[in-house]
Amino acid sequence: MERSSTLSVMTQICVIPGDQAAPEAMAATVLVLREIVPDVEILLIDEGIGPTGQFGETLSEHCREAIDSSDATLFGATSRRTGAISYLRWGKATYANIRPVSYIDGIKSPLSEPNDIDFVIVRENTEDLYAAVEGDLELLRPLDLTSYRGTGIPHSGEGRFAVKVITRAATERIAHYAFQMARERKQAGYPGKVTMSCKHNTLPASDGFFREIVTEIAESYQDIKYNDFIIDDFARRIIVEPETLDVVLLPNQYGDILSDEASALVGGLGVAPSGCYGTEYAYFEPVHGSAPDIEGLGIINPTATMLSAAMMLEYLNLPDAATTLTNAIKNVYASRENLPRDQGGNGSTEQFTTSVIAHL
Ligand code: NAI
Ligand code: MG
Repeated sequence: MERSSTLSVMTQICVIPGDQAAPEAMAATVLVLREIVPDVEILLIDEGIGPTGQFGETLSEHCREAIDSSDATLFGATSRRTGAISYLRWGKATYANIRPVSYIDGIKSPLSEPNDIDFVIVRENTEDLYAAVEGDLELLRPLDLTSYRGTGIPHSGEGRFAVKVITRAATERIAHYAFQMARERKQAGYPGKVTMSCKHNTLPASDGFFREIVTEIAESYQDIKYNDFIIDDFARRIIVEPETLDVVLLPNQYGDILSDEASALVGGLGVAPSGCYGTEYAYFEPVHGSAPDIEGLGIINPTATMLSAAMMLEYLNLPDAATTLTNAIKNVYASRENLPRDQGGNGSTEQFTTSVIAHL
């Protein structure tokens, strides 16, 4: 979806490379962006990490201002619990994490026929367990909470809890996003279908609530088909019938886990992009983390970050630039030249990037 505000005279993006191997992929992506959109101002900054407490996180004024003053942010990945991610997701209310899962010719897939895989995960990005409200069980014991199983919180002994938060407002918002996306895709020839998954059987009050709301909203989109599966079965279906999926709507944590799984069908984390959209702001990041095991080796696949940048260019109302970048990447995979290690090639990050630039 595109940014609603009109394009300012000068488009500016904030780029936060992150740490470990992620900055290597980001450096490659910035090189390519400078070729494609030389007029876009790139504000390159660190995460604004400062001294932190045990679970604390900080966000420097400098980093916050860079995010605020930019039309969008491109984020690498970080191993740290940084305030930058919290600010980009919760501060900017980027509630819809969009993760396309589509096969590009020449990419290494474990499936013999991956060509028909072309779906998109819509992950709720603000609630669920990732509200990260955790604590000591002592806090809950006085409440005498029970479950439908007749059990409750154990009465004694050390323990911790995490809260799974599902609100009506956030669920309605993400459900509408998914159905509207299915509608837009239908116009482009896709089936017009939303598939939702969660664990509503075991967690009727939280996941069951999510399902109840999504089912209600499905009623108001009569032109869009709707179905749902229990999450453990759905994890299997993603592997055996991915070609039946169009728009996949998931609560936060399941969306996080299953998007790594889904990426494996179409080439893995090295090629899986994402965008996080709110009503006022959007930021873009690869699905993968900071890949510590390949830090400094010069072999990280920058495709995921580059495709995230292409999603960002779309959002910035620069569709031609987005297409140029996507096509260059597709051409490099089709020619199989300088492909990175994770794609069975021998190319370094730098060599792959040189090939992308040559195909622009
Ligand atoms: P990871 O995604 O960083 O790496 C998993 C595996 O995939 C590793 O073997 C890695 O080398 C490989 N891989 C990932 N991206 C690749 C790429 N572009 N090219 C080639 N190979 C690639 O996940 P992991 O190891 O579980 O987490 C590492 C760190 O990243 C942790 O500290 C975690 O908290 C953080 N993380 C941060 C995220 C973010 O900033 N948004 C998201 C996910 C994890
Ligand atoms: Mg993840």
